[in-house]
Amino acid sequence: MNKLPRTLIQNISQLVTNDPLLDGTQLGLVQNAAIVIEDGKVLWVGESNKAPRDDDQEVVDANGQAVIPGFVDSHNHLVFMGDRSADFARRMAGGQYSPDGISYTVGLTRQASNNDLQKNAENLLTESLNSGTTTIEIKSGYGLTVADEERSLKIAASLTKESTFLGAHVIPEEFKAAPEDYVDLVCGPMLEAAKSHAKWIDVFCDRGAFNPEQTRKILKAGIGVGLKPRLHANQLEQGEGIAVGVELGAASVDHITHYSQADISLLAASTTVGTFLPGAEFSTRTKYPDARPLLEAGVSLAIATDCNPGSSYTSNMSFVIALAVREFFFSPEQALWSATKGGAKALQLQDVGHLGVGASADFLILKAPSYLHLAYRPGVDLIEQVWRNGRKLK
Ligand code: NIG
Ligand code: FE
Repeated sequence: MNKLPRTLIQNISQLVTNDPLLDGTQLGLVQNAAIVIEDGKVLWVGESNKAPRDDDQEVVDANGQAVIPGFVDSHNHLVFMGDRSADFARRMAGGQYSPDGISYTVGLTRQASNNDLQKNAENLLTESLNSGTTTIEIKSGYGLTVADEERSLKIAASLTKESTFLGAHVIPEEFKAAPEDYVDLVCGPMLEAAKSHAKWIDVFCDRGAFNPEQTRKILKAGIGVGLKPRLHANQLEQGEGIAVGVELGAASVDHITHYSQADISLLAASTTVGTFLPGAEFSTRTKYPDARPLLEAGVSLAIATDCNPGSSYTSNMSFVIALAVREFFFSPEQALWSATKGGAKALQLQDVGHLGVGASADFLILKAPSYLHLAYRPGVDLIEQVWRNGRKLK
């Protein structure tokens, strides 16, 4: 690839760096700011009038708008085929969400061609990028055979470094009478086929999916072959998911719609990030959890879209921020941090989710003078430009 010229982005009304060293706050704000990038990385950040000038550098005018780090969307299911909008309509008419719907998507995914699956995932990835996501995690989990999980993961890995093996999404129909046999398949041949295409292993530990013992067994098998653990936990009921995740050193426990006082203490004393998925409560019309007890206990929280056809068919992190603020009682600062630095922590990535010197030059120029507008103007596309690794992609 060609070397990129040094670029100065100036005339930024408000720059969010997530570098607390800059102003002593979590968001590391700079007013009237500029940022210099070189070779895909942040070279300098500060007040515009102090920016280093260089005759050869390119200059981008942010037109008095805000600049924030690119969103880090740490939980997605983009490899699938088919539509479940009728399910959504049924729920809006009073029906309940059930993980049984996953089997419907599994059926269609198994029948789909590689090409159609790849195209569908690419289209969703483009949608996600255009709404400001510069780092994305993508799971398998709608194949649930050795071959279908392997091809799902090949597609995921072609789109991101953050690919996750979710063979343990639900017990597929053909194993309903012998669930332990399916657990053995996941821990054996399926993991063997998956491991070279995945960085992470995930299990849906919940009612109607996998119990804590099965979850431990599967995560330990994954850890044994070098995958790192993360977890779907406590979406449908208060269970042991969070405790199992912390016990096994999961990078993140996701959904956590239901949590206990003991879960708060466990998370606060651990390095495990708690990830809320507000689109899932929205789309399943479930009571929104209150994030404040976790925030007050100092738990690191991420927020993510959980983009999938069943429980949360949105790729839009601005929407998720608005929900987190309005319904989960995040402050706008906490929500933005959780959508950027929090997501990076959930993926154990150091160089994204912030704009400190040396970080990857992944940032968004907003159509707004302040990040507050992300929650203040819900449903409005406020993403003017998207830059990743120092290149303008939107
Ligand atoms: O994260 N909860 C489990 N898995 C997905 C939903 C999958 C589906 O309904 O298709 C989730 O919400
Ligand atoms: Fe999920």
